[in-house]
Amino acid sequence: MTQTVLHIDASARTQGSTTRGLTAQIVERLGADQVIRRDLTSPLPQLTEDWVNANFTPADDRNTAQNELLALSDQLVEELKSADTLVIGVPIYNFAVPASLKAWIDLVARAGLTFAYTETGPKGLLEGKRAIIAVASGGTPIGSEVDFATGYLRHVLGFIGITDVEFVAADAMMMDADAAMARAQSAIDALAV
Ligand SMILES: Cc1cc2nc3c(=O)[nH]c(=O)nc-3n(C[C@H](O)[C@H](O)[C@H](O)COP(=O)(O)O)c2cc1C
Repeated sequence: MTQTVLHIDASARTQGSTTRGLTAQIVERLGADQVIRRDLTSPLPQLTEDWVNANFTPADDRNTAQNELLALSDQLVEELKSADTLVIGVPIYNFAVPASLKAWIDLVARAGLTFAYTETGPKGLLEGKRAIIAVASGGTPIGSEVDFATGYLRHVLGFIGITDVEFVAADAMMMDADAAMARAQSAIDALAV
């Protein structure tokens, strides 16, 4: 099957990272024809007032400077659109997603490009995609009331139309790292390819 994977890693650690190890395994298991790589250790900018104004300006009315301001966001949206499957590595940082990943989300959630306002409310425009998210945490159990990452990710991906979201979790590593890794490994082995 022709498949393009968008492989995103949000761990600040390039060495010894649990989530990077898991996403590498997942990408290999999927056997994609093409892998687009976004390593968020190369930082993405935060939104600015000028950026927001450029985004709110209708595309045909934007000036050159506004188009330049949106160019990186446009590129990230194109990467996302061209992917069949997203593989995202997400360490829990302070009970939520890393700021680097939030920056990526802020740049790809674009009215008119990835979601649209309709008479019946917002509608995601990126349909038919799958997301596999490798999550690691020290103590926070995934799905617990202090996990503000996985519910948020499921919601915001659904908001842009990606409703097929699976989690591979190596959570609460500080309690029992071997058991956490075994759970993650079983989830990877069970992934449909
Ligand atoms: C800045 C920072 C904040 C963290 N906050 C949490 C947290 O709120 N809850 C938790 O369970 N683990 C927390 N951890 C631990 C990481 O989630 C855990 O070490 C995870 O394995 C990191 O992923 P990585 O190995 O891919 O870098 C934090 C780690 C860092 C560096």
